[in-house]
Amino acid sequence: MGVSADVYTHGHHRSVVRSHARRTAATSAAYLLPFLQPGQRVLDVGCGPGSITVDLARAVSPGEVVGVDRARAAVDLTRDAAGAADLPNLSAEVADVLDLPFDDASFDVVHAHQVLQHVPDPVAALREMRRVTRPGGVVAVRDADYAATTWYPPSAGLDEWLALYHEVTEANRTEADAGRRLLHWALEAGFRADRLTPGASAWCFATPEDRAWWAGTWAERVTSSGFAEHALREGLADDVALESLAEAWREWGEAPDGWFAILHGELIARV
Ligand SMILES: C[S@@+](CC[C@H](N)C(=O)[O-])C[C@H]1O[C@@H](n2cnc3c(N)ncnc32)[C@H](O)[C@@H]1O
Repeated sequence: MGVSADVYTHGHHRSVVRSHARRTAATSAAYLLPFLQPGQRVLDVGCGPGSITVDLARAVSPGEVVGVDRARAAVDLTRDAAGAADLPNLSAEVADVLDLPFDDASFDVVHAHQVLQHVPDPVAALREMRRVTRPGGVVAVRDADYAATTWYPPSAGLDEWLALYHEVTEANRTEADAGRRLLHWALEAGFRADRLTPGASAWCFATPEDRAWWAGTWAERVTSSGFAEHALREGLADDVALESLAEAWREWGEAPDGWFAILHGELIARV
C-alpha cells in the first residue's frame, strides 16, 4: 500500500486552518447525519482541525470517533478540539488515507470531507476506506468542484485566481474538480453501483459576515499559505501576481452585492 507524496495544496497556514475550523457537520456533512446513530464507531479521514469530527463525535456518543490526518498539526488541533468540547470518545492520530492503521471491517462509518481532491490516487483512497468499513457500513465522501464555482460581481482577478488554482492542483497531480468525479471514482474502486447514493450541495457566502470572512481568508491564503508556496515554486505566479489576486479578493469582499457559491459532490457508499 502506497503512502502519498507531500502534495497537500493548501498546507496548514493559520489562514487555512481558520477557514477549515469554521466548518460544522450541519454545513459540510448534512448528507451523512441521517446515517449516524449513538454507539457507532466512526473514522474521519483527513480530519483537519476537527470541527466536523467534533460534531460526528457528539452524534454517535458514546460510540468512538477516530480522526486521522497525515499532518501532525491537524491531529494536534483535533485533540485540542476534543478536549475543549469534553468529548472523551474522540481521539486523533497521524495516518495516511492510503495506508490506514486499522483492521479490516473495524468501523461502521468512514467519512472524508474535502480530502479526495488532495490525494493523487483517490480510487486507491476509496478502496482503503472501504477495507476498514464493516459490511453494511457506510463510506461517505464530499468534495468541492472548483470549476463549478461562481460569483458576482464579475471579477477578472477572481477569474485569474480560479485558473491559477487549477494550475496549482494540476502541478500537484490532484483533481480540483473532484465533486463531479466521486461516483466515477467509487465505481472504479469496485463499489457496487446499486449501493451508491450520489448527491450535491453548495456553500454560499453572501451575507456581510460570510463575505468578509471568505474574502479575508482567501486574500491571506493566496499570499501566505501552501497554495502560494506551490504557485511560486512551480513558477505559476510571482509575488506581484499573488498580491493582485489578494487585492481582487479584498475588492470582492467589500462589494455590498458580493455573492459566491461553490458546488460540492457527495456520495454515500454502502459496503
Ligand atoms: C481541505 S482539508 C479538510 C479538513 C477537514 N476534513 C474539513 O473539512 O474541515 C484536507 C485535509 O486532508 C489532509 N490530507 C491530505 N492528504 C491526506 C492523506 N493522504 N491522508 C490523510 N490526510 C490527508 C490534509 O492534511 C488536510 O488536513
